Amino acid sequence: MKGNIVVGQSGGPTAVINSSLAGVVSYARKIGVEKIYGMHHGIEGFLKDDLVDMGEYIRNDEDIELLKRTPSAFLGSCRYKLPKIEGNEEVYDKIFEILEKHNIEVLFYIGGNDSMDTVKMLSDYAAMKGKKQRFMGVPKTIDNDLPITDHCPGYASAAKYIATSMKEVIRDNESFGVEKPTILICEIMGRHAGWLTAAAALSRGEDCSGPDMIYVPERTFDMDDFLARVKKLAAEKHSVVIAVSEGIKVADGRFVCELGGGADYVDAFGHKQLSGCAVTLANKVAAETGLKTRAIEFSTLQRAATHIASLTDINEAFACGYLAAQAADEGRTGEMIVIDVKNRDPYQVGYSIHDIHDIADVERPLPAEWITEDGTDINDGYVKYALPLIQGELQPIFVNGTPHHMVLKENRG
Ligand code: F6P
Repeated sequence: MKGNIVVGQSGGPTAVINSSLAGVVSYARKIGVEKIYGMHHGIEGFLKDDLVDMGEYIRNDEDIELLKRTPSAFLGSCRYKLPKIEGNEEVYDKIFEILEKHNIEVLFYIGGNDSMDTVKMLSDYAAMKGKKQRFMGVPKTIDNDLPITDHCPGYASAAKYIATSMKEVIRDNESFGVEKPTILICEIMGRHAGWLTAAAALSRGEDCSGPDMIYVPERTFDMDDFLARVKKLAAEKHSVVIAVSEGIKVADGRFVCELGGGADYVDAFGHKQLSGCAVTLANKVAAETGLKTRAIEFSTLQRAATHIASLTDINEAFACGYLAAQAADEGRTGEMIVIDVKNRDPYQVGYSIHDIHDIADVERPLPAEWITEDGTDINDGYVKYALPLIQGELQPIFVNGTPHHMVLKENRG
């Protein structure tokens, strides 16, 4: 590679998105790339020529280690949809003008389905106009809904947080309920796919019975059936804990969170903000049963918890970044790194590269065979899939009692 590179982070952050950034930067440093730029707030910032000089932050291996332990998107993120090429060429011309101005040979974009659309559009435009710049996708999403790849960096760490927190709140809920149980409803992210909510099943083991029910968006939610099941559980148990996906919908297509009045905000990709489903259900159960209820929304905690990130996930996220840079160095473009699991027990992982056109904008649901027939639980097939992914921990660097992070300088000039 003779020119410079730029890396962007896009979409919802994860606990390991900075490990992928560290991977790209590590490879680029190894081959002596002169300038390693970061996009401040993804392609949206790039369009304003808002760049970060990664050389000011990454000078040695210790800096790489701190970046890997830093939650959220170090460079800042965005949810920005590139317009269709036809009729909007000025947007693409602007991007290529900035690439040329900084002698950038390769653009890396770390993101999920929507972000891979950006890689697709830019590589298509380059091919159409005979431009020499190359574009590589690095997978990332806690939702785990990218196709082709076995799983997505970021998913396992969010799953580990969810499994851990489920165990802890189940313990808490079990401490009361001598006469009547408290009904605890936990809301988990994942948009239209149940991968993350399924992770609540990973809390099950010899020291924890796990949630009593798990509801994923792949199945239509039936309110009457749900209430009947809750009443039955409440009559039999001193603690009832239920995991629900933020994206569950009733038969007429409305999200459960909309029944309580939430979900007004819609982003550039047309995604509604899904939040409030646990509160809606807890209020409904309280009104129907008179029992004490509590709603917990894991919300951004589940994607920001780098202090309990999976070491397997951190290593794979780093590898995806590193290998994307290596592939670009070999002249590849318009592709994304894919994780291939060769064996689950013992766990053996490999990597390949796949055409971005098969990946951008495609959402992969949780396989139907892992959802129990009545649609209220997740079976062992999923557990076998996910368990190897959440193994291992990386000790944070504690300063004054809290984990230390790498932060962008405010006045970057
Ligand atoms: O795409 C990742 C994700 O965390 C989804 O699971 C969730 O629905 C969404 O982002 C929330 O996005 P925001 O924080 O922008 O509301």
